[in-house]
Amino acid sequence: MTAELSDVDFGKISRFVHEIYGINLHAGKKELVKARLGKRLRDGNFRSFAEYFRFVKSKKGAAELIRMIDSLSTNLTSFFREETHFHKLRKIIPEMAGSSSRYGRMPGSFRIWCAGCSTGEEAYTLAITLREALNGQNIDPQILATDISTKVLKTAMAGIYQSERVKSISNPLLKKYFQIGQGEWEEYYRVKKELKDIIKFTRFNLMENPNFNNPFDCIFCRNVMIYFDKETQKKLIGRFYNLLKKDGWLFIGHSESLTGMTHRFKYVEPSVYRK
Ligand SMILES: C[S@@+](CC[C@H](N)C(=O)[O-])C[C@H]1O[C@@H](n2cnc3c(N)ncnc32)[C@H](O)[C@@H]1O
Repeated sequence: MTAELSDVDFGKISRFVHEIYGINLHAGKKELVKARLGKRLRDGNFRSFAEYFRFVKSKKGAAELIRMIDSLSTNLTSFFREETHFHKLRKIIPEMAGSSSRYGRMPGSFRIWCAGCSTGEEAYTLAITLREALNGQNIDPQILATDISTKVLKTAMAGIYQSERVKSISNPLLKKYFQIGQGEWEEYYRVKKELKDIIKFTRFNLMENPNFNNPFDCIFCRNVMIYFDKETQKKLIGRFYNLLKKDGWLFIGHSESLTGMTHRFKYVEPSVYRK
């Protein structure tokens, strides 16, 4: 039986999640919170949401806090999602990666931050696009792929996907960058080393101040900010601006926009901005 989630306990949990992770759990999400955390309560033998929440905030509750966020975050993603962004990127890469003086830096590397990478499909799509665009050029492609959820990062790092999930990848690219499983793995595709080698997956909370050493050519933060309120989005956009190289690019989700927000980016086209 699922415990009752009172408005008071829901308020406490949603305020806490908002404060620490920026995720906006408005009143309409109460049933979702009840269902998803209800399972955590049953697994951990907690009698009420109040008891569960007290535990999560205690010193002993650190691991459960991560599990709580894992179960509250929405991780929907796919390979080549919102594909026009990858066509755009394909055009941008050779121009930016090859130039030195125009962008005030030495050529030699191309760095992308995939912020809110979920189960890895977006980061691997970026890696495919980079490999294809930089073919034969002496440039070191690097992708930093981050998410708050350890559960999705585990899947991302494994890089093994069921055939259903790779349907949006063209056959030539699938053959080139994936190994098809044998025997009991027949229905699975494994990302090849040449893609894995250029991606670093790591846990990072977008509410924290990043201390990444090198600036990025591009930041992809798509379908993540929709879960944050305007104030949190504005702070994040300001950080992205500072973390980009001169003339660097920001890609946000197709249904997201910076309209109505004070920011320093130049608008390029819907969901694409430039420093
Ligand atoms: C809907 S998925 C989007 C995945 C991918 N960017 C795409 O567009 O296909 C949103 C991701 O943002 C992550 N996320 C939510 N809040 C976060 C935070 N505060 N810090 C880092 N990642 C967060 C979630 O765990 C989830 O994997």
